[in-house]
Amino acid sequence: MNINNKTIWITGASSGIGEGLANALAAKGAKLILSARNQEKLSVLKQQLANSEHHKIVPLDLAEPEKLLEDLPKIIEEIGPIDILINNAGLSQRSIARETLLDVYRRVMEVNYFGTIAMTQAILPSMIAAKQGMIVTIASVAGKVGGKGMSGYSASKHAIIGYMDSLRAEEAENGLQVLTICPGFVQTNISVNSITADGSTLGTMSKAIRTGIPVAECANKIIQAIEQDKEEVIIGKGISYWAPTIKRFFPGLLRKLTAKNNYRD
Ligand SMILES: NC(=O)c1ccc[n+]([C@@H]2O[C@H](COP(=O)([O-])OP(=O)(O)OC[C@H]3O[C@@H](n4cnc5c(N)ncnc54)[C@H](OP(=O)(O)O)[C@@H]3O)[C@@H](O)[C@H]2O)c1
Repeated sequence: MNINNKTIWITGASSGIGEGLANALAAKGAKLILSARNQEKLSVLKQQLANSEHHKIVPLDLAEPEKLLEDLPKIIEEIGPIDILINNAGLSQRSIARETLLDVYRRVMEVNYFGTIAMTQAILPSMIAAKQGMIVTIASVAGKVGGKGMSGYSASKHAIIGYMDSLRAEEAENGLQVLTICPGFVQTNISVNSITADGSTLGTMSKAIRTGIPVAECANKIIQAIEQDKEEVIIGKGISYWAPTIKRFFPGLLRKLTAKNNYRD
């Protein structure tokens, strides 16, 4: 899909990949709806974007999916047709499964799975009426391959990839496109913001994230996938790029690699 002049809703626009996408998409002439919880960061970002006056801010909390389903229809009606929804907001977890509270699994699922579904369900009717639109979800390589210390995060991303596959099959007849993006490690605050076994914030950047690909590179590859009408794309470098292929063709090797590496530190 061509980006110029399209209305594109980005969740998680206040930081990392979402912020990178906002910068790159605004520069390509898109009109953006910027969402996240931190309204102040969104305002600062909006001012810095190309064609600042074309963009809107809609603060929201994906951890409250029922509220989203209640509030969003009116907001969507006011905004008008949305061409592309980018479900980017996400929360990670860094802790060993046997030590992790059930509530931590629930919080991660609430944001990465139920919140993403609520956003998607709210926007689908207007896209179906327009007989066009694209739903993009930033899943993860962790949604293809489970790794040590991220059982809740990995499960939530596996779940959303399954949802996206079904959605693609169902909405093809309505002319909608469904794109799943699976990044490997990207240099953002995802591990800093991740929650640990007891729900407290980790607060540190893991080595895997520090040595991942830059945000701008990830954002550009996501935009390329949108422009080329792709359905699923893996983005990254090194093991975090190759892991799904290794799992498919050499599952024993991948089991050894994942048992050896710890992505928490
Ligand atoms: N960085 C990586 O290595 C990597 C790899 C694979 C996939 N991903 C995925 O990429 C996406 C973006 O993450 P990032 O790496 O850019 O991390 P980030 O810098 O921590 O950004 C996360 C974004 O999600 C928003 N967010 C978190 N909880 C939210 C909630 N309850 N409601 C609404 N917004 C919420 C945050 O905004 P507020 O705090 O203002 O709400 C922020 O804008 C996530 O889905 C992540 O899982 C990242």
